[in-house]
Amino acid sequence: MKKQVLSAALIVMMVLTLCACGSSGSSGTATKGVLVMATNAEFPPYEYKEGDKIVGIDAEIAEAIAQKIGCKLEIEDIAFDSIIAEVVSGKADIGLAGMTITEDRKQSVNFSDPYATSSQVVIVQEASGIKGLSDLTEDSVIGVQIGTTGDIYCSDSFQNIERYNKGMEAVQALTQGKIDAVVIDSEPAKVFVSENAGLIILDESYTDEEYAAAIRKDNTELLEAVNKALSELKADGTLDAIVAKYISAN
Ligand code: ARG
Repeated sequence: MKKQVLSAALIVMMVLTLCACGSSGSSGTATKGVLVMATNAEFPPYEYKEGDKIVGIDAEIAEAIAQKIGCKLEIEDIAFDSIIAEVVSGKADIGLAGMTITEDRKQSVNFSDPYATSSQVVIVQEASGIKGLSDLTEDSVIGVQIGTTGDIYCSDSFQNIERYNKGMEAVQALTQGKIDAVVIDSEPAKVFVSENAGLIILDESYTDEEYAAAIRKDNTELLEAVNKALSELKADGTLDAIVAKYISAN
């Protein structure tokens, strides 16, 4: 009996340490038992706002992870290019934002096991006559969300990049004829194209990518707990069910 009480106490302590990782940050927003997730809720179907609520695949995955590790989830909506800094500073415990694993980001944070795949696609106006990547020239003006992998790739390949705070703003500029194309992740692209008449996604796409959770380098305990939770959620079908809720198979 004593043993059981002791181990129960140990588990509670372990959980509290896991979720308390954010409390080392200067803001003090993260308190014991709370898993603070930093995201940028401008990225349907992964994270977006429904009224005041942040919903989407990442929000639900985070909720499921938080439940498994016994924490309450708190979501912070910030600029995409601030998420890594927020995690590094400890103000957030986890960055979950359809974030692509890149070598460069790995210098600053650890990534969990991947939970989704994606690719960078190109959105153009159907009437533009642009049919493939080769129709884009040096003079083409490309819109991206600032700090994203789309931004990084295009900055290497094109001279005229327009950087927007939100992917949707880039898409609006495209519909207004201010830019020639938008380079963005495939699933958000489908959502934006379905909401704006006259736009198409080119068949050819750029790189394939993997999404994962970003976690502070010294927080290996949380990294392990998140990976364990993710593999359980994959195995029991929860992950697939969450994805199916937001992305219809076609
Ligand atoms: N996958 C891309 C990247 O990692 C874009 C992610 C944008 N996410 C967002 N929540 N706005 O750079």
